[in-house]
Amino acid sequence: MCGIVGYIGPKNSVPILLEGLQRLEYRGYDSAGIALIADHKLVVHKKAGKVAELVRMVNGNGHGLTAHLGIGHTRWATHGEPNDLNAHPHWDCHKEIAIIHNGIIENYVTLRTKLVLDGHIIRTKTDTEILVHLIEEMYKRANDLFTAVRLALLEVEGAYGILVVSTKEPDRIIAARKGSPLLIGIGERENLVASDAAAVVDHTRQVVYLEDGEVACITANSYVTKTIHDKEIIKEVEEITFDLQQIEKGGFEHFMLKEIHEQPESIRNSLRGRLLMPEGVVKLGGLEPVLDKLYSAERIIIMACGTSWHAGLAGKFMLEQLARIPVEVDYASEFRYRNPVIKPNDVAIVISQSGETADTQAALREAKSKGAVVIGVVNVVGSTIARGTDAGVYIHAGPEIGVASTKAFTSQIAVLSLITLLLARHRGLAEEQCRLLAADLMSLPDKVEKVLGESDHIKYLAGEFKHVQNFLYLGRGSNFPTALEGALKLKEISYIHAEGYPAAEMKHGPIALIDENMPVVFIVPKDAIYEKVLSNMQEVRARRGKIIAVANEDDHEIDQLADHVIRVPRTYSYFGPIVNSIPLQLLAYYMAVARGCNVDQPRNLAKSVTVE
Ligand code: AGP
Ligand code: GLU
Repeated sequence: MCGIVGYIGPKNSVPILLEGLQRLEYRGYDSAGIALIADHKLVVHKKAGKVAELVRMVNGNGHGLTAHLGIGHTRWATHGEPNDLNAHPHWDCHKEIAIIHNGIIENYVTLRTKLVLDGHIIRTKTDTEILVHLIEEMYKRANDLFTAVRLALLEVEGAYGILVVSTKEPDRIIAARKGSPLLIGIGERENLVASDAAAVVDHTRQVVYLEDGEVACITANSYVTKTIHDKEIIKEVEEITFDLQQIEKGGFEHFMLKEIHEQPESIRNSLRGRLLMPEGVVKLGGLEPVLDKLYSAERIIIMACGTSWHAGLAGKFMLEQLARIPVEVDYASEFRYRNPVIKPNDVAIVISQSGETADTQAALREAKSKGAVVIGVVNVVGSTIARGTDAGVYIHAGPEIGVASTKAFTSQIAVLSLITLLLARHRGLAEEQCRLLAADLMSLPDKVEKVLGESDHIKYLAGEFKHVQNFLYLGRGSNFPTALEGALKLKEISYIHAEGYPAAEMKHGPIALIDENMPVVFIVPKDAIYEKVLSNMQEVRARRGKIIAVANEDDHEIDQLADHVIRVPRTYSYFGPIVNSIPLQLLAYYMAVARGCNVDQPRNLAKSVTVE
């Protein structure tokens, strides 16, 4: 999920690596490091914090490091606190092989157990370090780095983009890709490797993109590409046409749009290695310390702010429906001051993308002070909230740069779904129901991908409605939080006043607002209360309200009632907020762009509200 750069050639790799890492800073990260091969020695510099601190460390090192082969990494921690020790590169037992890695090794615990039994000394808590010891082990057999990396990766489950170097073969970089991008930058008697073009574009625009399941051996004057099963392949050299600014956003105009389109992958990462199919058995190692407490909980209290609070409401719906456990959802800012009643068997869940929100930190302290066990559902590893909880599940959504939260929201709900399935199975939900739910959960990335295909239609709608001053979002059940989230997205980036409401509640007041100038978004999937929402739509139509419906692909009844329909695939209502929020994210985005708003940094907003 973060940054990789490698260089091999006649120049000193150190400034090239450090500049490359600076080019990758935009991706968000928590630590950085480089590994160099100089005079057959492996030299590693790495630390938590910004690249600038790494630069000071390297330059301050005094003896003017020079090396013609090196690799550099910015880390977005998934396993192991963001600290100097866990920063990449990691090395083997004899400090002869170094690795940098983007992604998640799912079966690292199993691999670690075997390697420790084989005598390997594992120094860090990361999943990545396991891989370099596995390569060390394979090297004993293969006596060739390219082969050793391939053999090691055949044992690995998970996602990776890796670079590997060794003092034993100081003229090459081995690269491998599965689920995390890598490209080779082709130079004049030099070559680079990177996670994205931003790190190489100062040196070359000739690139070769690796695909999943491909490995490469790169020297200063050549490169060989193979499949992981040792079949040589010829790759086409392509030209980078983007400028740097476009590259940082992956070719998208804004980080927010990039992150909206990352959601099939970010949801996959949230579920990765945590759902054993086809039984749908959930594995959440981070909850081990409190599992007994969670299983015996008589009530769950969820505390969060903003979008995370909306995710909490979606979590309430599924936990109560499937695990039959009472759930209260509280604004963290309210919880912290209302002297809450906490009972011995209460379990609290704090949800936070940044892990630094002041109100949520305070709610966490309040819950703990009253004896509750507190679980975190957090994106940033090692953040204050993550470290303050008794246990937790990281959402692995990757860095979210846009101030308006999108992929974190859907990943929070994906993780809450896993916690729900874990609890529901323990509390007696039928095996078959667990299997069906798990299968639907695993199908969500593809369903989200499908909805993203509606972008052009949604962009057109945004143009039609960009001048309106008010919007109403209505939904029922699990889609009430979806309505709230859709309204918040529109408010915070287009500055249009928007309200989310339970659809039935509209007649208790807001219906007075309805006229031809009040567009209403209905989230109306074909679920158990579909007919009820149709009635609400009739009420709006009768008052000349304009209706945009988010409705299922196979629903043709809706066309009689809605002025515009955005089609979404069917999914279990519990997971509805994930699929049905995508069109609302896109609608808000395109309306904000049409209104010339600063989408990534909306006025008055901060990405993390670390003040009261
Ligand atoms: C979301 O679009 C907003 N930027 C904001 O509501 C955010 O969700 C809220 O501040 C909570 O942040 P957190 O998840 O980092 O705790
Ligand atoms: N999973 C690895 C770690 O936590 C790599 C994280 C990344 O992609 O930066 O160190």
